[in-house]
Amino acid sequence: MMKGDQEKRVFYRSPGKAYPQVERARGVYIYDTDGRKYLDGASGCVVANIGYGVTQVADAMRETAATISYVHSSTFTNRPQEELARCLAEAAPGELNHTYFVSGGTEANETAMSMALQYHMQRGNRGKYKVIGRTLSYHGSSFGTLSAASNVARRRLFSPLLLPFPLVPAPHCYRCHYGLTHPACGLLCARALEQAILSEGPENVAAFLVEPVIGTSAAASVPPAEYFPRVREICDRYDVLLIADEVLCGYGRSGKFVTLEHWQVEPDLLTLGKGLGGGYAPLAAVIASEQVHRVFAENWGKFVHGYTYQGNPVCCSAGLAIYRFIRQEKLFEQVAEKGEFLSQGLKDLAAHHPVIGDVRGLGLLLGLELVRDAASRESFPREVQAAEKARKTCMDRGLLLYTGVGGTADIMPRDYLLIAPPFVMNRPEMEELLEKLDASLTEVEAGLL
Ligand SMILES: Cc1ncc(COP(=O)(O)O)c(C=O)c1O
Repeated sequence: MMKGDQEKRVFYRSPGKAYPQVERARGVYIYDTDGRKYLDGASGCVVANIGYGVTQVADAMRETAATISYVHSSTFTNRPQEELARCLAEAAPGELNHTYFVSGGTEANETAMSMALQYHMQRGNRGKYKVIGRTLSYHGSSFGTLSAASNVARRRLFSPLLLPFPLVPAPHCYRCHYGLTHPACGLLCARALEQAILSEGPENVAAFLVEPVIGTSAAASVPPAEYFPRVREICDRYDVLLIADEVLCGYGRSGKFVTLEHWQVEPDLLTLGKGLGGGYAPLAAVIASEQVHRVFAENWGKFVHGYTYQGNPVCCSAGLAIYRFIRQEKLFEQVAEKGEFLSQGLKDLAAHHPVIGDVRGLGLLLGLELVRDAASRESFPREVQAAEKARKTCMDRGLLLYTGVGGTADIMPRDYLLIAPPFVMNRPEMEELLEKLDASLTEVEAGLL
């Protein structure tokens, strides 16, 4: 084949699909080269928290690229990484105070698991190597993070290569794993953690990895209030580190800087991503507690791990400028109130859209579950592709929402839409989002019900 100028040479996520090409983006809107305008109701994939085109972020990146660009992390530290780590230590609750910077959420979760194992080794517990994960989770696309989660759609292809991590049911009251109702359930899902630790042997278990509010695998499913305090107690009882994967739900998205703060629980390791680099730079992080960091500082004096781009000055300067912008505009403070407005708007839509089975979420991380029958909670058959149809209909009307992979999956695939706009979205823009969603659902229902 000739390599002509107009040939498409990108290996796309879906080769064969035609992608509109973006021309520019500003605030909460994206514009393509065909002149179409889209309202971003999902911040890309829950990334663009401060919206698009913030010039002070671009300026900070440009300045750092011109003065430092890159240094290797085994030889040098750099000012943006130092300053951003100080900001995160100040913003994070309690003991979470030492940050290891990486380039994406998958890397952050791999790093946190490795950190947990090496923490135990240095304390003389070499046998503690197992990480317990949960069903209805997604922690990344490496084999390690896929092993620690149950996103069936993503795991299926590689199952022979994945490690047999123990998985316990995540709390998800709309479709309880045990078919029970809270609080009569006695929080069996928390008890399942203790049973798993005992059956694996506490001397073998290093960590429990969780998404505090489940993102793409269950569309903003929020646990009962007593779940995480109970989990914290169980982890402490058996010397198991609690790793909170807040790549999607953290960094203010749920209305608190750290989502676990909603239940006054502190993890030992916290992973952040997505909003930390805000779409301006690939940036993610593991924030370790004082205790975890001290064990590394006082024993081996090193963490056996590493990536070429960790702590990259340009990415950290983007992260620092984003953090400062959020503080300057008081965006963290606005999330809870904006989330309530949007959540109420979605509940109002649910009242006249039978296709909406559930509205859930916290802060500006909201989810809709689409069902064939709201009373029985019966889902659409998978081949109907209800969520994908809804997402496409919204996009045709100029509204971007997010679905998980293949409608996302537990054992049974369900149809979810995630609504997670940039924190900067204002009232008229939220009203526009709700109007476009309303019209799109009317169209989708006409074809589905
Ligand atoms: C909760 C959670 N953890 C980890 C990841 C992986 O992050 P990344 O795609 O940046 O590797 C994601 C991505 O969607 C996520 O939602």
